[in-house]
Amino acid sequence: MDQNELKELVGKEAVKFIKDGMVVGLGTGSTVKFMVDALGDRVKNEGISIIGVPTSDRTADQARSLGITVKSVDEVDHIDLTIDGADEISSDFQGIKGGGAAHLFEKIVATNSTKVMWIVDESKMVDQLGAFPLPLEVIPYGSTQVYKKLEKEGLHPKFRMDADGKHVLTDSKNYVIDLHLGEINHPHELADYLIKQVGIVEQGLFLDMVNTVIVGRQNGPEVLQ
Ligand code: 5RP
Repeated sequence: MDQNELKELVGKEAVKFIKDGMVVGLGTGSTVKFMVDALGDRVKNEGISIIGVPTSDRTADQARSLGITVKSVDEVDHIDLTIDGADEISSDFQGIKGGGAAHLFEKIVATNSTKVMWIVDESKMVDQLGAFPLPLEVIPYGSTQVYKKLEKEGLHPKFRMDADGKHVLTDSKNYVIDLHLGEINHPHELADYLIKQVGIVEQGLFLDMVNTVIVGRQNGPEVLQ
């Protein structure tokens, strides 16, 4: 199986954990896209009724197009389960997210969820976090000053730009700075430092917040808890 097939495999596996009547956080990214497709199939074929709480405009559009009822995080009083992708996951279930520039909304939805599940192909499982650049969502105003400070701290920042050389914008119209760290030895300390910097709205380390990981392996999906 290639990477896309592994993503589809875990997307299909994840929707088995969704029960009729649940409020479900819907993450963002190519793996989640497969999961939302599979959820749409269940809604259509089995008639299950769920409320989806999307973490991006992209996911909201996809869910609506498949007939899934969508509400914002502020319109629900709880979220039973959030299913999301990840860019890197260490063996102790810490992760990096934000490759799709949605980590602010993803973290808001995850921290308001009773349970959080990540779905990934096996290439995302790592011994140590940090090879994947750590995304930061930053307010455009003053972002060059934030960038310079991060550079001075030796954190190897890079603004995320699109193919036309324009800043990639989040759904909140903020910029993204990626930190090219190579390895992250003290994720909690780094997360604390970053979130204290004025102008950084959210950082992409998701620590101590996931209950279940489904890994797409060549011999089938592996559920880790
Ligand atoms: C978006 C994310 C995604 O979940 C993460 O980038 C994984 O994406 P994909 O499933 O496309 O590999 O954090 O902000």
